[in-house]
Parts: sequence; structure tokens; C-alpha cells
Amino acid sequence: MSLTRKRIAIFASGSGTNAEEILAYFNRHSTIQVVLLLSNNPSAFALARADKYNVPTKVFTKAQFKDSIVVLTWLQEKEVSHIVLAGFMWLVPSYLTQHYPDKIINIHPALLPKFGGKGMYGMRVHEAVKSEGENETGITIHLVNEKYDEGRILFQASCEVLEADSPRQIADKVHALEYAHYAKVIERWIND
Ligand code: GAR
Repeated sequence: MSLTRKRIAIFASGSGTNAEEILAYFNRHSTIQVVLLLSNNPSAFALARADKYNVPTKVFTKAQFKDSIVVLTWLQEKEVSHIVLAGFMWLVPSYLTQHYPDKIINIHPALLPKFGGKGMYGMRVHEAVKSEGENETGITIHLVNEKYDEGRILFQASCEVLEADSPRQIADKVHALEYAHYAKVIERWIND
């Protein structure tokens, strides 16, 4: 294994299906490895998914996340070069964006700038898409700055929303796009 492989930390708050896709994609990858999975939620299933791939995990409190030492020290100990948010629900503090400029990526389950910002995450996004009567939605993969969902967009893909679709069905279509694209976009972003 090359020592020059780029080293990813994943931040995830919940189920972690996107995290698992990324763990699987970079398992034994030649240039990129996942070295840590962090969560603000001790019962996040994402933690168990990381265990399955023998990737170490860390859980932090809001106070630890706001403090500039604890989380940064964990990342530095693991020599993390890139951060991937995969269903992570807290705003990233400025000490992290300053330490990792253009090295933090996020996926949002809608076509930003629509349906973004504080409070817009997970099923809430799909419920809003439904109630606004949108006929398309999709995913946005973007760099992270200190504001929710406002960093530079790297990639978008869309899908149709039918009148009969429930928020759950919209979520399923969006998840399919996430699984098809996120790991590949991460790979291009890191390698190019
Ligand atoms: C994903 O759809 C992701 O795009 C979204 O949360 C879901 C997490 O699912 N992220 C946001 O809403 C961030 N604003 P997962 O835990 O199964 O990957």
C-alpha cells in the first residue's frame, strides 16, 4: 500500500447509507483510503457501518465540535487530508473550513440553491419538494464553507418527480442518484 494515499474522514449523523457506499468504494482503493468516521450521534448506524470496514470511529458532543482542539486533533492524528460529509447535520465550524480550505465536500439531497439552508436536511427536503409541487429534484455535491449549502457546486444530477410520488418515493429516487455519483465525484475531486 502506498504511503501517499489521500486520507478521508467521513462525518455522518444518521443511518449512513451514503457513508457505506463510500466505505465500500474506497476499500482497497489505490490512491484514497477512509481512515476515520466521526459522528455527533452515538446511536448513528453509520458507526456500525464503519466498524464493518475496520475503520475507526469517534463520537463528539456539540461542545467538543465547537472547541477548536478535540476534533482537529483526531483528524491530525490520522493525517486526514480530505473531509467528506455524508448526511452530517451540523454546521461545520470555521476552524475546520480554515484548516481544510476546499478540502471538505458535502452532498445535499436537492438541486441547490433550491431547498437548502438551515433546517433543510433529510426527509424535510423531500417533504418541501413535494409540497412545492416541483416536477424535478436531484442531488448537489459541493465544497463546504461556513454557511449551510453555499460552497462551490461541483456536480448536480436530477430526477423526475411525479405528481403521485410521496416524499418517501422522492427520497428513494434521490438516494439512488447519491449512490450512483457521490463516491465517483469524491474520487475525481481528490485525484484531479
Ligand atoms: C442523504 O440523503 C444526504 O444527502 C442528506 O441526508 C441523507 C443521509 O442519508 N444530507 C443532508 O440533508 C445534508 N443537508 P444516509 O445517512 O442514509 O446517508
